[in-house]
Amino acid sequence: MVRRAGRLLRSGGLVAFPTETVYGLGANALDAAAAARIFAAKGRPADNPLIVHVADGEEAAALSLAWPAAAVRLVRAFWPGPLTLVVPASPVVPAVVRAGLPTVAVRCPAHPVARALLRAARVPVAAPSANRSGRPSPTTARAVAEDLDGRVDLVVDGGSAGIGVESTVVDVSVSPAVLLRPGGLPREDIEAVVGPLVEPTPGGPARSPGMKYRHYAPDRPVVWLRRSPAEAAAVVRARCDPAATGVLAPTAVLAALPEYVHAVDLGPSAETAAQRLFEGLRRLDRIPAVRVIVAVWDSDRGLGLAIGNRLAKAAGEVWT
Ligand code: TXA
Ligand code: MG
Repeated sequence: MVRRAGRLLRSGGLVAFPTETVYGLGANALDAAAAARIFAAKGRPADNPLIVHVADGEEAAALSLAWPAAAVRLVRAFWPGPLTLVVPASPVVPAVVRAGLPTVAVRCPAHPVARALLRAARVPVAAPSANRSGRPSPTTARAVAEDLDGRVDLVVDGGSAGIGVESTVVDVSVSPAVLLRPGGLPREDIEAVVGPLVEPTPGGPARSPGMKYRHYAPDRPVVWLRRSPAEAAAVVRARCDPAATGVLAPTAVLAALPEYVHAVDLGPSAETAAQRLFEGLRRLDRIPAVRVIVAVWDSDRGLGLAIGNRLAKAAGEVWT
């Protein structure tokens, strides 16, 4: 399967595959026509650049014009793993992959299937999350099929993606480094290695073009209830109809809401919540009685920052 996937990638095909964060939709990153097929299959805006997946730090450095000191330290500490680095791009990276930017995003995934695939392909692989543009990222092969059936040449099934939210994206082409997207590697861990990260300039050009779009959203409207587990149950009960509301919440909150039968348990921790978030949104979205999905989350620590970020983008409304 992996050898066939590698051949398909080398010959310009589209292959969906598991990573330790979410499933990716891959194409040869050095082949502009193949990369363009990714945008068509996802319905992705052309101004949203792709992450290029590589087998190791050397392959990443070969795609960049300069390899900043912060990149050296971060690669040593965290690759392979859920960290994407934005660096000045070498001209070998086609403009379509970079969406015309002078930088390129590179990441070395840790998932054994992704690593085997990169070795078999022998080319760097551009891969956004394998969902239709705007939908929750897929953490299973079934979710990929739900969105992209008939639009990809092959889906490699590697079971559930482990972390459940996408990689953390850090721009190291500037100093201090900028946190473009919180994700599967906690901000605290990165800052322990390179010092404080800064936020993208507000009102400035969208530094990570992908972050300006509505994202991660199922079809039903999502409300983000940003309250502590101790307070959230009372708010749900006061404002939501148990028959028509899907509730996505930590175990402690659901325990206080037995009449809300359309429920997805996010578990006891940020790690379990990250794993269940996107699949949970998709699951509640398939229940006909559910008219609105209420997601309870309030922590910014560890993976909690990424969970809140995804809910902010998925939700049409935030209740505080
Ligand atoms: O975990 C992940 O990162 C997954 C798996 C498949 O590796 N991929 C993923 O890709 O989440 P995607 O395309 O869904 O998100 C890529 C993000 C977008 O927000 C995009 O704008 C940003 O990375 N990005 C890519 N290249 C960039 C660049 N040169 N400068 C700034 N942001 C960039
Ligand atoms: Mg995505």
